[in-house]
Amino acid sequence: MQVESPQRGLLIAFEGIDGSGKSSHLRQLAAFLREQGLQVVETREPTNGIHGRRIRSLFTKRELLSKEEELELFLLDRRDHVERCINPALAAGRIVLTDRYYFSTAAYQGAAGMDTAAIFAQNGFAPEPDLVLLLRVPPEEGVRRIREQRRERPNDFEQEDQLIKVDKLFASFSQPYIKRIDSTRERSSVQAQIRQLVRELCHARGFTCA
Ligand code: TYD
Repeated sequence: MQVESPQRGLLIAFEGIDGSGKSSHLRQLAAFLREQGLQVVETREPTNGIHGRRIRSLFTKRELLSKEEELELFLLDRRDHVERCINPALAAGRIVLTDRYYFSTAAYQGAAGMDTAAIFAQNGFAPEPDLVLLLRVPPEEGVRRIREQRRERPNDFEQEDQLIKVDKLFASFSQPYIKRIDSTRERSSVQAQIRQLVRELCHARGFTCA
């Protein structure tokens, strides 16, 4: 008897500068897709693995690493993420929602002075996403949201001068599956646009989604 292999899943990445609303929109989208009976995996980078935890411990001590070492650490974390989480979930036919992916490396480590084309090439091991939802807010708005809503001081990655460069790099990426979303609008209309884009992808790829 032939065992039917499941259809490959979908990989959807949320990207954007800090304070752009990625994490809460990802959670709401996950809940919506689960209501449709779809199997969803929510994940994020930096991960909770050994390299991801090291990255988080360095958020306010960025000067301890050279920019080359920092890039290396994000790549190690991604290898782990792809091997342990993303690839198995896609093979099992799941819909994977990741809060950040290699576009963040290209934008943030690019803003720190590394070559973005080289960064994309170094991420060749990571599966290309089916959809990137790039949430956009002006950098000063991102910093304001971090301060006011999270009641946190921006960490080393979240300084406005850095985020201006990060935002410019995000704006320069031209992969056809990147959809730009104005995240300064009301949260409900941002979420509605996200759902519409995901619905279209699901229909195109044979996933049932109302
Ligand atoms: P963030 O999504 O803000 O995590 P959290 O909500 O848990 O604080 O991501 C953490 C920071 O890591 C963010 O400022 C961007 C940075 N980062 C990179 O510089 N390169 C990368 O490849 C990734 C994935 C994140």
